[in-house]
Amino acid sequence: MIVVTGATGNVGQELVRILVEAGEQVTAVSRRPAQLPDGVRHLQADLAESQSLRTALDGAEALFLLVAGDDPQGILDLAEAGGVRRVVLLSSQGVGTRPEVYRHPAAFEDAVRRSGLEWTILRSGGLNSNAFAWAETIRTQRTAAAPFGDVGLPTVDPADVAEVAATVLRESGHAGRTYDLTGPAPVTPQQRAEAIGDALGTPVRFVEQTRAEARAQMLTFMPEPVVEGTLAILGRPLPAEQEVSSAVERILGRAPRTVADWAARTAPAFR
Ligand SMILES: NC(=O)c1ccc[n+]([C@@H]2O[C@H](COP(=O)([O-])OP(=O)(O)OC[C@H]3O[C@@H](n4cnc5c(N)ncnc54)[C@H](OP(=O)(O)O)[C@@H]3O)[C@@H](O)[C@H]2O)c1
Repeated sequence: MIVVTGATGNVGQELVRILVEAGEQVTAVSRRPAQLPDGVRHLQADLAESQSLRTALDGAEALFLLVAGDDPQGILDLAEAGGVRRVVLLSSQGVGTRPEVYRHPAAFEDAVRRSGLEWTILRSGGLNSNAFAWAETIRTQRTAAAPFGDVGLPTVDPADVAEVAATVLRESGHAGRTYDLTGPAPVTPQQRAEAIGDALGTPVRFVEQTRAEARAQMLTFMPEPVVEGTLAILGRPLPAEQEVSSAVERILGRAPRTVADWAARTAPAFR
């Protein structure tokens, strides 16, 4: 049994699908009800209340953990007590490049490394699915607004993160490894909007936001230190944040998917 937390998310949903197709028994965890493939056990639990995960973890072999709540130790203790042997943590590339900002995922990484479990850490770069934030304005006005329109970052397809997660959850040889996951090349916000327009067959107009406009918008759904860190990455990325990682290709034996590929698959969300 593999427990997948964040099972309703961009990465988690795809991970559940891949594991089920590979014949694995899966328990999917989220706070909201989830639409899941047949045969998947769903448990409503909150990572912020670690004890709520007890039923999910009892008798499981592996855990896909995402960063939520403040008690990674409590979750990992329950996992060990329940018989889990392997944990794969979905963390952020920012832990490596800006540890002073990404303290929350860093605390989860520390707890995972200290645990008695066989662990692998996936440090994801920005996800292509962040562009879903444009879904409404693209649908209604064919516009997409973002700051730093000409700064490129090698954002990663959540389906690639899910496929890597499925591989390291099922295969040995990844214990004690930390992998940075990126896409195949830096892509600017303008190019991302263009890719969605190409997938729709109609142009999407890119609207450059000021830093202040973007900051105000982000503060509605992210804590301030994370907003500052995100704006710094988007506006003045460090060389390490623009670098393309070879991890997806090494683990999956193929190049990472492009933004054009992501846009083609998700076009209905922007129609
Ligand atoms: N977005 C990025 O650019 C980026 C970059 C690096 C790393 N990451 C990491 O990747 C993770 C997944 O990203 P994503 O795009 O798949 O996110 P997402 O689509 O927002 O999904 C998050 C998932 O986590 C669940 N969840 C959130 N808080 C929870 C809690 N307290 N207890 C139980 N479940 C909880 C949500 O379900 P419910 O709401 O139903 O509980 C949902 O299934 C993020 O959480 C982040 O740590 C993201």
